[in-house]
Amino acid sequence: MNILILGSGGREHSLAWAVKQNPKCDRLIAAPGNAGIADIAECAALDILDGDAVVTFAAENAVDFVIVGPEAPLAAGVADACRAAGLSVFGPSAAAAKLEASKSFTKAICDAANAPTAAYARFTEAAPAKDYIKAQGAPIVVKADGLAAGKGVIVAMTEAEALDAIDDMFGGEFGAAGAEVVIEEFMEGEEGSLFVLVDGDDVLPVGTAQDHKRVGDGDTGPNTGGMGAYSPAPVLSDAVVQKAMDEIVRPTMREMVRLGMPYSGVLYVGLMIKDGQPRLVEYNVRFGDPECQVLMMRLGAQALDLMLACAEGRLGNAQVAWADDHAITVVMAADGYPGAYKKGTEIGGLSDLAEDSFNMVFHAGTAQDGARITAVGGRVLNVTARGASLSEARDRAYAMIDRIDWPEGFCRRDIGWRAL
Ligand code: AMP
Ligand code: GLY
Repeated sequence: MNILILGSGGREHSLAWAVKQNPKCDRLIAAPGNAGIADIAECAALDILDGDAVVTFAAENAVDFVIVGPEAPLAAGVADACRAAGLSVFGPSAAAAKLEASKSFTKAICDAANAPTAAYARFTEAAPAKDYIKAQGAPIVVKADGLAAGKGVIVAMTEAEALDAIDDMFGGEFGAAGAEVVIEEFMEGEEGSLFVLVDGDDVLPVGTAQDHKRVGDGDTGPNTGGMGAYSPAPVLSDAVVQKAMDEIVRPTMREMVRLGMPYSGVLYVGLMIKDGQPRLVEYNVRFGDPECQVLMMRLGAQALDLMLACAEGRLGNAQVAWADDHAITVVMAADGYPGAYKKGTEIGGLSDLAEDSFNMVFHAGTAQDGARITAVGGRVLNVTARGASLSEARDRAYAMIDRIDWPEGFCRRDIGWRAL
């Protein structure tokens, strides 16, 4: 079959890598793709936020299956446009994508489903929001309601920080995303992410992961999109996953069905775990980046069968074949990230690395410039490895990193420390 993957990051490179290994895949196209994806798939220029353009492109190229990587096309209704045109598509409708695009929507679903999550209140004006913060005290969490590229959450350790966040949000720092603000109880515990395929009220967990959000070793410095991840996440034991499925995922997905917006696609379940009890931090309506990279490394070719079963409503009969393995991905970023960074620096040594089912460098922000690979993003490479243990996977990943010649790049040296 002919498959189109929408997106251009390391997540999409890992999806392409897994899909390509499945003999069902004939032609693989990524739009817009990147320099790494171009090694294994055709890359096409296409406005992936434009549902009509995606449908037209799919018809012209005899595409049978569309996999949507990032959240923006989902929120823009690209999966709806594909379904309306009779295309098989992996990804939820715009209505269901509100689970990521609106924090207050998700909170209301949790209330209706009685799913454990942080206590909260929502505001559209600064004065009552500030009164609420003063009444609750710190620590407290202030969130812009809408999509803010991962920047709309302020975990305020002091009341002053929380009040400043209110001024920023209602002052327009996050644009329309901050027109409504959700203020939440600060939850203590350890975080982990659970990934679940969902098709209406059928659900299938496909793995757990933990990421590292801070830029520096020892979880220091500013927040980033994620500097590395590993799977499985020890904090998400079978018992905790079972509880999260029973108390959070199943009841909220049933509520979505009841509301006439059944979910279809992968659900990223961000959890806070304390004393064996999971509570929902957030839902995302797509694979995490870089969490997807470790999940794909572990699932391999079966990822395509699972995504197809999900899209075609056959999830009830689908199963994951688990290997007792571990995967890790270490992000190499451009010096300066998550602040300002230089573009166009050359990355050497990549072509000498063995790439196989244990070692893979996924590209996140690269371009091909003649024979050279150059860095064009903040997060640039996801050096990913698999092993019988996490330490084996980690040693493989750092051995690859040590052979990459990129003086203007850096990485954390302690990915996986919490689990090792
Ligand atoms: P979100 O975008 O909702 O995942 O928030 C980003 C990060 O903020 C999460 O991964 C948590 O580390 C943190 N966070 C969000 N909500 C809370 C909460 N209620 N209590 C503690 N930490 C939180
Ligand atoms: N790594 C976090 C995310 O994809 O949202």
